[in-house]
Amino acid sequence: MNERDSEAVAAQLLARGYSLAESEETADIILLNTCSVRDLAEQKALGKMRALAADARKSKRNVILGFMGCMAQARGESLIERLPDVDLVIGTQKFHHVADYLDDLLSGRCEKIIDIDEEKDSQMAIREHLLDGRGQKAVTAFVSIMQGCNQRCTFCIVPYTRGKERCRPIDDVVRECRELAEKGVKEITLLGQIVTSYGRGEIPVKDGKSPFVQLLEAVHEVDGIERIRFTAPHPKGYGDDLVEAYGRLPKLVESAHIPIQSGSNRILELMKRGHTREKYLSIIEKLRAVKPEIGICTDIIVGFPGETEDDFKQTVDLIEQVRFDQAFIFKYSPRQGTKAAEMPDQIPQQVKEERHQILLNLMNRIGAERYGRYIGREVEILVEGPSRKNPDRLTGRTRCNKIVVYEGKQEDIGSLVKIKVTRAGTFTLYGEPIYQSPGK
Ligand code: 5AD
Repeated sequence: MNERDSEAVAAQLLARGYSLAESEETADIILLNTCSVRDLAEQKALGKMRALAADARKSKRNVILGFMGCMAQARGESLIERLPDVDLVIGTQKFHHVADYLDDLLSGRCEKIIDIDEEKDSQMAIREHLLDGRGQKAVTAFVSIMQGCNQRCTFCIVPYTRGKERCRPIDDVVRECRELAEKGVKEITLLGQIVTSYGRGEIPVKDGKSPFVQLLEAVHEVDGIERIRFTAPHPKGYGDDLVEAYGRLPKLVESAHIPIQSGSNRILELMKRGHTREKYLSIIEKLRAVKPEIGICTDIIVGFPGETEDDFKQTVDLIEQVRFDQAFIFKYSPRQGTKAAEMPDQIPQQVKEERHQILLNLMNRIGAERYGRYIGREVEILVEGPSRKNPDRLTGRTRCNKIVVYEGKQEDIGSLVKIKVTRAGTFTLYGEPIYQSPGK
């Protein structure tokens, strides 16, 4: 979501006549879009800004420095008190004003600008794309369908930094997808803090279908879009209408990133997640009944306050039971203002580190098994572009969201290519293309 917000700001600035700098050293304006979900992310952003300010001062360059996003929202003016070289602090509902604010700073109308207010309908403003920003036409695009979160999980700062849920109308999202398809985009990822809550209370349920499923159906109608993904859902949003959509909508890929957070009902309750372990397992079972190959990914937090050895074992057990294709494992990070930060029995850092390592090892083992199964098999990928690690190779993803790297032709980019998998690395597959001869 942060990447998507940054992209929209960059596109807005290009439309105003700015250009993308080659590097930090040559930039006249540097804006850091920030995340507050864990303290580490905040510390990194602060460290980075400190270094940027020091560089600018040393080289006597007059650079405009700004913070945007969640940390800007949460810390506001105190960021400038702490780092006086910062000129601009832009909250999560204000991304679309960045160009105006830069004009104000550059023309000398203002010396510093801080805007972290709420703004009605800000969810409508994240629309602009930068489809050839990396020198090559984009094949996939992210579409922000809503902002905010009403869930109030006790560990999470997002409801405080991103505000209440506000959704865009279905036809507005569809219009954006259509424009993207016309520009050659083949895959859309619908984005929101909890996409399955899309339109809840605003768009009525129709024929037993939630607003989110109605949105999926509408995007499915867009010609030229071949694949639809979304992130992130909430387990409680996985009603039968959504499970059934996987079987009915061919463009909806067999992939789901469903955060579980913990395998212990006691911890889930303390987290105020609103779902149980059993409910989660039943969703996975239903999804696999509809799409046996579905790729399942999750988020897990270790070391939540009060997490006992037994609670942790239940998370280990759940991972073994589900056998996720991928899992993002996080050490619990207390966030100021959240309920969990005030809870007793905060877990020592060392215990968090140990549990984190155990789950990483477990997921590496399960991942190796799940990815290893593909060796010798043929998979179909949507080719996205050069691999980041080795630009001589191409990369794409299967419908189940497995990354595949291979040596291919430049013209493969943007098309579906069959690959014979020859090797499995850590959460990556490698293989050889099987090109169809013309007329086949
Ligand atoms: N500490 C650690 N991880 C967190 N997440 C959210 N808040 C915290 C926190 N305070 C994780 C959750 C969420 C993911 C985006 O970040 O697992 O799904």
